[in-house]
Amino acid sequence: MDLPYELRDLLRQAYSAEKAAAFAYQGHAAAVKGLDNKTRIREIENDEWIHRAEVLSLMKQYNVPISWWYEFKYHIIGKFISYSCYVIGWFTAMYFAGRLESGNVNEYYRMVELFHTEGITEHDDILEEMGIKEKEHEVFFLSRIRSHPWLPLFEKLFGWGASKSYNPLDMDDPE
Ligand SMILES: [Fe+2]
Ligand SMILES: [Fe+2]
Repeated sequence: MDLPYELRDLLRQAYSAEKAAAFAYQGHAAAVKGLDNKTRIREIENDEWIHRAEVLSLMKQYNVPISWWYEFKYHIIGKFISYSCYVIGWFTAMYFAGRLESGNVNEYYRMVELFHTEGITEHDDILEEMGIKEKEHEVFFLSRIRSHPWLPLFEKLFGWGASKSYNPLDMDDPE
């Protein structure tokens, strides 16, 4: 069956954006200090590769082709963020990683909604699981910067922080 355009495009974008995230975390893990941080960020990188594989299997099921434009675009974005982690400083890298993850949560829940409009509920579990993983990533990055003196200013400027999330999910801080 043919999925609606928005859903097809969301899947293709998520597939490529997961690669960008994984690349970005390679740089982030290398640039950050502290073994705990490095280990956790490598785990997060691994989650993103798993997400990419899971999204691809959904795309195959519905004959959604990979977008080579998104692959190219997100390759550049991922590598750019990866290298920039060495220069922008740990606070900024943690902040923008958390902010990005915060928005990613919604994408998987939006996919659930769009599948439902087609009467498809069989992917609810896997999509919600990915959304929750992104939330865990958001919570981790926020936990690293929660008490940093720059956070209130960044929150005002960029709209995400200790009291503002892009998604309505609420989880107990696992830290
Ligand atoms: Fe992901
Ligand atoms: Fe993530």
